Amino acid sequence: MKLIDTHCHLYLPEFDSDRNDVIHRAQESGVDKFFLPNIDSSSVNSMLLLSAANSGICYPMMGLHPGSVKDDWLREITIIEKYLFNTTGLKFYGIGETGLDGYWDKSYVHKQKENFQRHIGWAKELHLPITIHSREATEECIALIKENKDENLTGIFHCFTGTIEQAHEIADMDFYLGIGGVVTFKNAGLDKVLEQIDLEHIVLETDSPYLAPVPYRGKRNETSYLKLIVSKIAVIKNLPLEEVASITTRNAMRVFQL
Ligand code: NI
Repeated sequence: MKLIDTHCHLYLPEFDSDRNDVIHRAQESGVDKFFLPNIDSSSVNSMLLLSAANSGICYPMMGLHPGSVKDDWLREITIIEKYLFNTTGLKFYGIGETGLDGYWDKSYVHKQKENFQRHIGWAKELHLPITIHSREATEECIALIKENKDENLTGIFHCFTGTIEQAHEIADMDFYLGIGGVVTFKNAGLDKVLEQIDLEHIVLETDSPYLAPVPYRGKRNETSYLKLIVSKIAVIKNLPLEEVASITTRNAMRVFQL
């Protein structure tokens, strides 16, 4: 069984004491690729170091997280852009994570939109997939993607927790739903959505160190827990584990152009 974690922040300090063990455990459980979304200028170095030390295993993306969009946005976005358009041969495999977050702080909504719009432009220009954070803003994110959609623009609605209608809209735009630990939470309702969405539109993720699946809910998440997420999806879809793994892995390879 081969799995891909399409969204994990293994470069964060939460893994400083046992990062290699965490990667090793994940590999033992079948994960052979880790996609690393950036957060902001402060996370770039550790992300690049981890990717360089694990070439062909860890794949970096570049972007500015909506939660890091503050008064110093212009300074941040300039740094991110410089990395993205570097002339040193440094390769990024996606744009993100970016998007909108309506949960924390409403005072930066306009800047978050401007930030997201900038990332969509990069994704189109560079023909790279975009990883979208859409917490409490799924409708707005779908609308912005729809407005900007062309034949090249694709990507992942990371940590999708929306409605069946939204899931269909995303699939119809040729985007993927990133499904993680939330699928194991009671009352999240994601099982009802997944029952009606074809596996062709789904990729797997952990969002480590956040959003650990049951029975680790509330604790530090790590990529080896991806197997709990696959198991849950296999039960929901009433399909063998191996089939869920192979279809979602193929989807991940497709969206990241590997
Ligand atoms: Ni994330």
